[in-house]
Amino acid sequence: MESLSFFIQTFGCQMNDHESGVLAHLLEGAGYREVPDPAEADVILVNTCAIREKAEQKVYSQLGRYRSLKESRPGLVLAVGGCMAQSEGRRVLSRAPFVDLVFGTHALMDVPSLLGRVREQRRRIVATEVSSDPSRVEALYAHSRGLGLKAFVTVMHGCDNFCAYCVVPHVRGREMSRPASEIVAEVERLSAEGVVEVTLLGQNVNSYGQKPQGDTSFAELVRRVAAVEGVRRIRFTTSHPKDLSEDLITLFAEETKLMPHIHLPLQSGSDRILRAMNRGYTSAHYRALVEKLRRIVPGIAVTSDLIVGFPGETEGDFEATLRVMAEIVFDNLFSFKFSPRPRTAAAAMIDALPAGVKEERLQRLQALQREHTLQRNQELVGRICTVLVEGASRVGGAQWTGRTPENKIVNFPGPGVGVGEELAVRIAGARINSLVGELAGAEAPCTCK
Ligand code: SAH
Ligand code: SF4
Ligand code: F3S
Repeated sequence: MESLSFFIQTFGCQMNDHESGVLAHLLEGAGYREVPDPAEADVILVNTCAIREKAEQKVYSQLGRYRSLKESRPGLVLAVGGCMAQSEGRRVLSRAPFVDLVFGTHALMDVPSLLGRVREQRRRIVATEVSSDPSRVEALYAHSRGLGLKAFVTVMHGCDNFCAYCVVPHVRGREMSRPASEIVAEVERLSAEGVVEVTLLGQNVNSYGQKPQGDTSFAELVRRVAAVEGVRRIRFTTSHPKDLSEDLITLFAEETKLMPHIHLPLQSGSDRILRAMNRGYTSAHYRALVEKLRRIVPGIAVTSDLIVGFPGETEGDFEATLRVMAEIVFDNLFSFKFSPRPRTAAAAMIDALPAGVKEERLQRLQALQREHTLQRNQELVGRICTVLVEGASRVGGAQWTGRTPENKIVNFPGPGVGVGEELAVRIAGARINSLVGELAGAEAPCTCK
């Protein structure tokens, strides 16, 4: 009998992308094979996100499209997993009655057996129990895989911060750090498979090792990962400003493998709104952190997340956000309109701001950020950066693409270039989304980290 085929579609963040990779590996281990087209698949899995209402709407409209595939192929199994599945549970089946399986964020390990039950028993299943058993988590990460040169490694699960707007603690469960020895062993395995760049993942990596209380801080974990042979670049995401330690800040200067980029979500520049969001820091504290980071590594790239239109945000609060942006000048920014989420504290607050005002604030903020992104990229022009070559550029014309230590994309022409090489590239031009480079020659000194 020919093996069953599957197709996974992923919505949401890097954590979800990474978990879809783990799921694919698990399914391959159970005898399924991955296909690139949902129309050819026996099983379609949709890994979902619940962070904003729009994310959920996107999932339901995608499910609607899969419904017509199911009508033409009655044997097709449709499974919905991840954060929205966790949040909606059984409701997915009432809103999309053609779905066969709903699996939550703690049920990944069980997906192969759940799919078996759906097929054998011909019934629909909802599996959204939350588990606090760490051994299940470890078993899962035996299935992580590198994406060629790069890999993501989960260092912690869940989140206990309960920012007032955020659904993540409600759908991913309590904060739980993995043992450092397991993480290091996973990095060693990935490195042996050819991975040279590792990104450590968690909702708040700065509180790594606190729950359950371990003897390794996040900075110490980074040192241990840096000691793994073959690892050349280390990144991590996401950092929470309230937990960013001095030790980690100084590590940016001490540890050459730790790349000079930090994603440090600010959320708002107004202290009143930060308090209402339950973020646990002030805008002055945030600015002081960025100053320290820049004193230690002057060229460090700082990126952030901002929300506009949180309940009660006045024009004055919004202007405070623009002021902090102007003082800091972020390298890049993800910005969002506030979206009320089920079970969060902010969902019960009065969200009286007209949609048009939220939209207008978002536009103003994004216009300012476009100027800043270009300005920060232009500051690199004339410098020589070490670029890790990732592949042929989509720009075409014998161009290569890679990333600077600051995680900026550089496209450059060059004969005899190989994927995985680290090359000195002179930055010749700056765009908003990428840099234009030219090979600097082997003898050129590198002025980036
Ligand atoms: N754990 C990370 C990111 C969580 S989600 C952190 O703590 O920063 C990614 C981003 O989505 C958040 O930083 C926030 O800016 C945004 N976000 C989360 N919930 C939101 C909501 N209800 N409405 C709008 N944006 C939201
Ligand atoms: Fe959400 Fe806050 Fe946790 Fe980030 S730290 S996942 S924003 S609750
Ligand atoms: Fe990520 Fe969305 Fe879940 S941002 S953690 S996939 S709610």
